[in-house]
Parts: sequence; C-alpha cells; structure tokens
Amino acid sequence: MADIWTLLLSPVPEIKNVQRRNFSLRRETPRFSTAALTEELVIPPVQVNYTQLLINGKFVDSASGKTFPTFDPRTGEVIAHVAEGDAEDINRAVSAARKAFDEGPWPKMTAYERSRIMLRFADLVEKHSDELAALETWDNGKPYEQASQAELPMLARLFRYYAGWADKIHGLTVPADGPYHVQTLHEPIGVAGQIIPWNFPLLMFAWKVGPALACGNTIVLKTAEQTPLTALYVANLFHEAGLPPGVLNIISGFGPTAGAALASHMDVDKLAFTGSTETGKIVLGLAAKSNLKPVTLELGGKSPFIVCEDADIDKAVELAHFALFFNQGQCCCAGSRTYVHECVYDEFIEKSKARAMKRIVGDPFKKGVEQGPQIDTEQFEKVLRYIRSGIESNATLECGGGRLGSKGFFIQPTVFSNVQDDMLIAKDEIFGPVQSILKFKDLDEVIKRANTTRYGLAAGVFTKNVDTANTLSRALKAGTVWVNCFDVFDAAIPFGGYKMSGIGREKGIYSLHNYLQVKAVVTPLKKAAWL
Ligand code: NAI
Ligand code: MG
Repeated sequence: MADIWTLLLSPVPEIKNVQRRNFSLRRETPRFSTAALTEELVIPPVQVNYTQLLINGKFVDSASGKTFPTFDPRTGEVIAHVAEGDAEDINRAVSAARKAFDEGPWPKMTAYERSRIMLRFADLVEKHSDELAALETWDNGKPYEQASQAELPMLARLFRYYAGWADKIHGLTVPADGPYHVQTLHEPIGVAGQIIPWNFPLLMFAWKVGPALACGNTIVLKTAEQTPLTALYVANLFHEAGLPPGVLNIISGFGPTAGAALASHMDVDKLAFTGSTETGKIVLGLAAKSNLKPVTLELGGKSPFIVCEDADIDKAVELAHFALFFNQGQCCCAGSRTYVHECVYDEFIEKSKARAMKRIVGDPFKKGVEQGPQIDTEQFEKVLRYIRSGIESNATLECGGGRLGSKGFFIQPTVFSNVQDDMLIAKDEIFGPVQSILKFKDLDEVIKRANTTRYGLAAGVFTKNVDTANTLSRALKAGTVWVNCFDVFDAAIPFGGYKMSGIGREKGIYSLHNYLQVKAVVTPLKKAAWL
C-alpha cells in the first residue's frame, strides 16, 4: 500500500514559502500551460505568498507574534506557518473596519464605483484562477479539476452578480394614513463579522463578502484554521482592484480565541457564520450576550435524497452518488440519507455499490481524480468512528469502510445499506464519503421519515411524476429541494436552512437583507389645496 501511495502522491511543483509584506511587492504569478494537459495535470507553480493577517490594507504579524501550521491533507505535512490571530488582532481589525466605515470612502462612494471595484476583482480572480485553484487544492485536498472548473468560476460569478446589485439597492416610498411623506432608506449595517469553514474556503468567502460589500459594509473575516491561505490571496487581489484599506480585513486563527472574540465584539454590527450547529449555538449566544448583533447561521445538515419507484435508476444512482460523495462528502447539504423505494431498492444497492467501487480516489492534483483526502486528522477520525458505528449497529457494509493508503487522510468510498432511521449514521452529520441507504414503501411514510430530523438544509427528489415531485417539494422541510438534480448552486438561488440547519438565507437577493438596515423617514406634508 505504501508503495502505491508514494506513486500516487506527486509533490506540489516548485513550492516556495515566500512571505510578502506589502502589496507593492507582488510578483507576476506564473501562468498555467494547457499544452501538456494529457495524462497528468500540469499545475502552475504555487507559492505561499501571504501568511500574515490582513489589517487595514497591510499584512502584519499577530500581536502575540504566534503562528500556527497549515497542513497538506494529502500527506499531513506542514505547508506553511500562518500568523495566529487572537482577541487583540480582532480588536485591531475591528477598529480598522470601523474607521473605514465611519470615515473612509467606501460607504460614501457611489454604488456604481463600488460595483466597478467588485467587477475588477472578479477579473483578477479569473486572471489568477489557476494558481488560486492550486493553492485551494493544496490547503484543502479537493480535486484540482473541481477547484479550477467549478469553485473558481463560481467565485468570479458571485462577485459579478453582487456587483450588479450594488447600484440597484434602494428603498421605497410608502403610502401612510395621513398627511405624511414616508420613505425607507436601505443603509449598510456597518462592520460585518464573518466566520467561515474549511470545506469551500473560496466559495464561503464569496457568499459572505459579496453581499456585504455590495451593500457598502466593511468586514472582518475569520478563516478556518485548516484553510487560511486562499482568502489572504484573494483579499490581496481586492486591494489590487482598488478596495480602500480597512474595508476587508482577514484574520487567520482558531475558533475559541479569534472566532469568539469576533462574535462577542461590541463594535461588530452583524455576524454571519457557517459551520457546525454546535458552534452556531455558541456564536449566537456570544452575539446575544454582547451587543445583540443580528446573526445569520448556515449550519449542518442531514439531507434526504428520495428515489421514487418510477425514477430512472441509472441516473438516480449517479446523482445520489454525486449528492453524497462530492467534495469528499464534506458538504453541509450532502444527500446523506438516500431513501429508496422498495421496488427498486435491490437494483439501486447493487448499482450504488458498483459506482462507489469505481470512484477514483487519490492525489487531488492528478487528472481524473474524483476524491481527495479528508481535511484533517480530526475529520478523518470522526468519519472512521461513524463507519465503525454503522457496522456495530448492524447496517450492511456494502463496500469501503476503512482508510485508503497509509499517508494523509484518504478514506475509501463507503456504502451502507439496510440503514434504519434510529442509527447514528442516519441521524448525525458524518461529513465524509459514507453513503447510508434506507428503504421506504410509500410517499406519506417517506415524507414523515425524511422530516424527522433536527436539520432542514436541503433535500433531493428523484421521480418522473410531476405530482410526486410537487407533493414532495412542498412537504419536505428544507431550505432547498432539488428535483431530478442536486447541488445546483447559482449566485441568484438562495441557500439556507430550516430548523437547526440555520437562520437566514445566503446568495441571491435574500442575502442583501442580511447586510442592510431599513430606516423609515417620515415627514409631515404641508396642507396643500389638493390634499
Ligand atoms: P466549526 O463549526 O467548529 O468551525 C467552523 C468555523 O467556526 C471555523 O472558522 C472555526 O474556527 C470557527 N469556530 C469554532 N469554534 C468557535 C467559537 N467558539 N467561536 C467562534 N468561532 C468558532 O466546525 P469544525 O470543528 O471545523 O467541524 C466540525 C463539524 O462541523 C464537521 O464535522 C461538520 O459536521 C460540521 N461542519 C459544517 C460545515 C457547513 O458547511 N455547514 C462546515 C464545516 C464543518
Ligand atoms: Mg470545531
């Protein structure tokens, strides 16, 4: 196994660890050449240029001088040491964001000017997308092809979408009972605190920063300790695009220190968080105990994926596989309870098992690889614990069930059948490549079972019958229902959860409301002859 593994893992080419201290020192990044894109992917040389905190437009060390390592999930080896932000750094970043909001040009410039900076940023993301995708894969472990072909284009698209909104945000004239002129002003909230996770570092950056900037807010964003590198890179591109200093501050660091300091800061006007339900409760509590800042939460899920008896089984198998295994199973909306009608259950199991066994797991920098490593030891151990729990609770292990290789955090694509609703693998968010397949008999039963969960983030429905599709999409308590498709993410489509999957919606027009205050302005009308 070790030998195969050595063959599978290729080094990230020409790795250098160069610390950049200010924007003017930027070098031209090497370009990606598609000429040799044959058997192996040709990855542009990647450098870690930014490892300090970004406060007030400058890269600086943490107040304590402390750093922490970020790891390559393919091997567990250290990529770079990154400044470790703590409460004092959050204070410095919030002061910078406050000053940029109260005194700086950002909220005062025309919305059109703001949108042009965001559009320039999107262009720069495209210019640097190969290098950014490589850095994302290196820090996170996701397949390079997916990072470059899906995540990077979505990052640019999302900022263009919100740039389009910037100059279309305005209030209303409101009819009132009486001689009053009433209007609403839609104003930015102020300093937004944002805490993001590690599973889609760049997309989570976009979902939070895009709408906040479009509305004219300033930001302090804390990245996940597992994936600090790409947000620093893109924040630098934002300054190259003309973003004034202090508008976007990036703090790398840990949750209970930097994250908690941000959530409880008295001068942060709004908090947006994505991560576990458990941590979501903590940050909501911190916001409540400090200054009652409004909080949006995008939390965990245990999404049902329902395959009806009339479904095209081959397509359903492929889609259910994708719904669960995409991004190493590390998706908050993963279709992690595959409910299959009893008439097609046996065929579905056979085909799902065959599909999982064909899944290509390996070095995410190699062409054709579908699945890379899990993010870190903690997640790797957690997923293996859930697999053991599935076996112990007598679910049938159809394939997989263990570690792959001897290095890094790779896990075999795992399929369980005969899963019962009360098993832990059917109730908890596993966040790994473990598919749980359950049998059902009729629609009423599956609706009830699918909704018997503390989560409500997403659901998938697979059927050819429009009445079944309509019945299920109305009955399922989830923020998104994908019918005959899954994981369709578009900048304009809102995303968020029912129940303990969260509060509020991100993306689309809905996210703008998270970053705006509505002010009603009421003025008496002078009695005129015609009134
Ligand atoms: P987490 O929720 O603890 O971490 C997410 C973010 O919150 C990170 O930036 C972290 O530094 C920060 N954080 C942690 N503790 C905090 C605190 N006390 N105050 C403020 N910020 C804090 O998630 P973690 O530990 O990385 O993963 C645990 C589980 O959470 C996963 O196995 C998965 O089930 C779920 N998860 C869900 C995600 C989603 O997209 N909804 C993303 C990541 C994890
Ligand atoms: Mg945690």
